[in-house]
Amino acid sequence: MTVIKINAITVPADSGDELAHRFAKRAGAVDGAEGFEGFELLKPTDGRDQWLVITRWRDEEAFQGWLSSPGFADGHRSAQERAGGDAPRPVSTHSEVWNYEIAGGSAPAPG
Ligand code: HEM
Repeated sequence: MTVIKINAITVPADSGDELAHRFAKRAGAVDGAEGFEGFELLKPTDGRDQWLVITRWRDEEAFQGWLSSPGFADGHRSAQERAGGDAPRPVSTHSEVWNYEIAGGSAPAPG
C-alpha cells in the first residue's frame, strides 16, 4: 500500500525563493528509485514558514531503501557541489518527517 512521507522544511520567508531555485536544479536521482511514485514541493501561501516535500512510495521498504541509498545523498547534493564547488549554506532552519497513509479521497469522474 502506498505510503506518504512528508519532509516539512522550515524556511525563513526571505529564503523561500532560494529553496525553490535549488529544487528546480535538483539532481533528479530520486526519479529512478525503486518504488518511488512521485513527489510535489509545496510552497506556503498563507504566511507559514514550512515548505512541504510530499513524497509517495510503493511501501515503507521502498522509502527506507531510498533513505539509505546513494541516491538519497546524490539527491541532496546541490547543483553547486555537483559542478565541483562548495556546498551552499542550508536555506532551512529545521526539518521533520511526517508519516501518512491514504485513508480516503476522491478524483473527478471521467468525462
Ligand atoms: C535533513 C533534512 C532535509 C533537508 C534540509 C532537505 C532539503 C532539500 C533540498 C534543499 C533539496 C534540493 C536539492 C539540493 O539543492 O540539495 C532537496 C531535495 C529533495 N528532498 Fe530533501 N531534504 C531533507 C531530507 C529529505 C527527506 C527525509 C525527504 C523525504 C521524505 C526528502 C525529499 C527530497 C526529494 C524527493 C528531493 C529531490 C531529490 C532528487 O532530485 O533526487 N528530503 N531536499
